[in-house]
Amino acid sequence: MKVLFAASEAVPFAKTGGLADVIGSLPKELAKQGIDVRVILPKYEDIPAAYTQAMETVATFTLEMGWRKLYCGILKLEHEGIPFYFIDNEFYFHRRGCYGYGDDAERFAYFCRAVMDSIQHIDFMPDIIHCHDWQAGMIPVLYRAHFSYQPEYAHMKTVMTVHNLKYQGVFAKEQFKDFFALGDEHFTGYALEQYGGGSFMKGGLLYSDAITTVSPTYAEEIQTPFYGEYLDSLMRSQSQRLHGIVNGIDYTEFDPMTDPHLEVNYRDSLVKKQQNKVKLQEKLGLPVNKDIPMIALVTRLVEQKGLALIDRVISELMALDAQWVILGTGEHRYEQLFRWAADQYPDKLSANILFDEGLARQIYASSDLFLMPSQFEPCGIGQLIAMRYRSVPIVRETGGLKDTVQPYNESTGEGTGFSFAHYNAHDMLYTVERAIATYHEEEAWGNLMANLKKKDFSWRKSAQQYASLYEQLIK
Ligand code: GLC
Repeated sequence: MKVLFAASEAVPFAKTGGLADVIGSLPKELAKQGIDVRVILPKYEDIPAAYTQAMETVATFTLEMGWRKLYCGILKLEHEGIPFYFIDNEFYFHRRGCYGYGDDAERFAYFCRAVMDSIQHIDFMPDIIHCHDWQAGMIPVLYRAHFSYQPEYAHMKTVMTVHNLKYQGVFAKEQFKDFFALGDEHFTGYALEQYGGGSFMKGGLLYSDAITTVSPTYAEEIQTPFYGEYLDSLMRSQSQRLHGIVNGIDYTEFDPMTDPHLEVNYRDSLVKKQQNKVKLQEKLGLPVNKDIPMIALVTRLVEQKGLALIDRVISELMALDAQWVILGTGEHRYEQLFRWAADQYPDKLSANILFDEGLARQIYASSDLFLMPSQFEPCGIGQLIAMRYRSVPIVRETGGLKDTVQPYNESTGEGTGFSFAHYNAHDMLYTVERAIATYHEEEAWGNLMANLKKKDFSWRKSAQQYASLYEQLIK
């Protein structure tokens, strides 16, 4: 079985969010199951030179995008056993960052087109093209409209995975007709049309052979108006071919026993975990105290992550007997919120408005509790890493947070974290208070640690689910 992943980011080449972690780790687990899986990405300027210098050119050709004739180079690099292909066009991709340009529609139209055209040049005819998020969403459309009737392409199936339905890639219809050479028949309500424009995401959803999203609960939620981002009725109509498969994490990459960023490596020893905490307190200028609960937030600072709830009760949270460590960048108002809090409560909170992988690992290792009060969360990766590093998650019961964190039950001793149902600041505050109280109860905390130890959030099970979905499709 041959599978080509098409995506706009992957660790370690380019990352803005959790999508990159998935594309960087799931293929390795699929390969273990005997699948020949390869990944194709844009070649951005920010890819570290150590990688770009090691790439080899495997093809160069001219492709047609509407009336345009454009250069396309394909470079290849094998990384940790997985072949990665990079689409080279300096006009579109030799820019800082991945997204946020006025011509993103054209840039990712080009990406989708280049993926389809490159197949015949790289000597890899996949059985499945697995497309991730809106940036790859027009691949199934191009396949149906321009490729499926060619004999070498006829057997292929396409899978569309939604990592976040909020980002849809909606642009003017004229652009779609121009870039993809599509007729009016593709712009009805049951095709690309969305809000009077056209939608990359909708293309991926309606023209693919199967749809997946990154947790079973999110698969249910997006069929409702609150989470459906105006596509809930479409999601209901497609529910028969919509599958929720929860993400895992790379257990070799995220392992407190071998993580080179940590002061002290550990697996289950709380004493060693506390040694990390003390080192981090010294480093960040917080009062040194191994017994005070440390609560962490490692996240993009955006609305989705539930930061409005924290804003609402910030003074109550700062009054608790706990220390807070924040790491991340994002919307100005939330960056300012945490800068202000660090200024007001220097003994309580450390705000690190930046992203640094090493510091992130130290925070996972040092913290006792990990807060994710998301408004919605397709899967979420932070809580999985936190559990692997024995930091107990406090989450809102939504999407993948609901599927991966089992609320602690005082009477049975079962559970792996703390959770609340409603998007409400005081429900969150109460849950944080309960978590802090439990931290001080030796037996209950021992139960939580023992329960975390038994959980497996590696990719193994989920990769099996993807493999069996591929099998069904090619049968
Ligand atoms: C997006 C979602 C996040 C998910 C990730 C990977 O970033 O917001 O919940 O974990 O994609 O699928």
